[in-house]
Amino acid sequence: MTNQNTEVPEIREPLPQGNRTPLIAGNWKMNLDHLQAIALVQKLAWGLKDVRHDFSEAEVAVFPPFTDLRSVQTLLAADKLSLTLGAQDVSPHESGAYTGDISAAMLAKLDVRYALVGHSERRHGHSESDDTVGLKARAAHAAGIVPMICVGETAEDLEQHGAAAIPIAQLTAALAHLPQDAEFVVAYEPVWAIGSGQAATPEQAEEVARALREHLRELRGDDRAVAIRVLYGGSVASQNIAGFMRQPNIDGALIGGASLKVDEFTRIIQFKKHVTAG
Ligand code: 13P
Repeated sequence: MTNQNTEVPEIREPLPQGNRTPLIAGNWKMNLDHLQAIALVQKLAWGLKDVRHDFSEAEVAVFPPFTDLRSVQTLLAADKLSLTLGAQDVSPHESGAYTGDISAAMLAKLDVRYALVGHSERRHGHSESDDTVGLKARAAHAAGIVPMICVGETAEDLEQHGAAAIPIAQLTAALAHLPQDAEFVVAYEPVWAIGSGQAATPEQAEEVARALREHLRELRGDDRAVAIRVLYGGSVASQNIAGFMRQPNIDGALIGGASLKVDEFTRIIQFKKHVTAG
């Protein structure tokens, strides 16, 4: 809420911490065919059972390539596994002459709960604009899928504008296309940290996550800002997950490379052990 009576910026009360369920999400990118996908998910499910993972303490989602979704969905349903399914992209269009696109309705039929929109590899490798990202988020929402809106600055942006300006601008542009009450997740992934082995520090990531949440207060109001999950992504591993999860505004992680290694991904999912131990 802006202060109408004075030019002095309003000093807002800090938000309450809220009760957000952490989300650990594995973005497989263009890796694993459908047979390898089944093998990985089976192994992951056994591993999580072995360590008695409590899914109410941390939700676990996998984002396989499109060609794997049906196989993974069938496995999750047959074995009643508590993992949730995500897609790496979604068409902004409902249906029609869009060769190569996959619609949100098709994904919803496969019990897909989340769809990544605006991943930096789509923004940069496929020239996706902020508008396209917003339209994709809207298409997902319209089909009952929760968009996971990815935002992040390049190394150049960081130098020129600081860490938070670009992520905030990207989020604002995407949300302009989403209804006020739409559910969504934000994934903050600094481009320079993706696949580089050089993660942001927990403090750097927290600073941007906090700025994004403060901005969400303006765009969606305090109640929604408290409820929305903000994830960090970029070179997350079992050695650094605890530092991120200790931050008050970071509610999980979006993990690339490390999500393809079952033991490592399982250790990341078990971050609570490291958080309380550390
Ligand atoms: P890495 O974990 O391999 O750095 O990838 C992060 C990412 O892009 C997840 O979407």
